[in-house]
Amino acid sequence: MAVRRLAEIQPADFAFTAENLTWANAQIAKYPAGRQASAVIPLLWRAQKQAGGWLPRKAIEHVAEILSMANIRVLEVATFYTMFNLAPVGRHHVQVCGTTPCMLRGAGEIIDHCHERIGEQFHVTADGNFSWVEVECLGACVNAPMAQINDDFYEDLTRENFTQLLDNLAAGKPVKVGPQIDRQFSAPVGGETTLTDGQASSANRQS
Ligand code: FES
Repeated sequence: MAVRRLAEIQPADFAFTAENLTWANAQIAKYPAGRQASAVIPLLWRAQKQAGGWLPRKAIEHVAEILSMANIRVLEVATFYTMFNLAPVGRHHVQVCGTTPCMLRGAGEIIDHCHERIGEQFHVTADGNFSWVEVECLGACVNAPMAQINDDFYEDLTRENFTQLLDNLAAGKPVKVGPQIDRQFSAPVGGETTLTDGQASSANRQS
């Protein structure tokens, strides 16, 4: 897990666009009076999107002001969750799961490749294409090892298909989200192993 601290170089200010402020107010309205702080995560997420993939200090303070929260309370949330980036990231920000099931299935090789190709965690490559960080379980252990790149999951990674994936992203080519091998969602590798008889399956479902 990388150290989580705010970037040294910060923009002078931040404010939601009119469109995002309207969206933020709609989120806040979902909660009872006095509970507006419950909207802190969606507002931080929106602020991160607006700021280009990371959360400047001023964005954290802006969200605190909108929600009538102490800055430190919003800072606590922003620094706790790895979904919030505290420094600028690349166009493709890679979050590699380094928790036990992924490690047992080869995440170490994916992490090694990130070191070799991108550099240290949160380093942005010279072309601005990539940054990476190791994170805890992202909930796709069944298809370990996996990584989240921007908003999408990429699973069943190997050094080879991960290299190809990054090559395609860098080249702006279309990529396949989800399993990177011949697997449908989280179904067994190689296809179904149960209820393979269509009639029997249908009869079982009706009984
Ligand atoms: S351990 Fe990697 S997604 Fe859960």
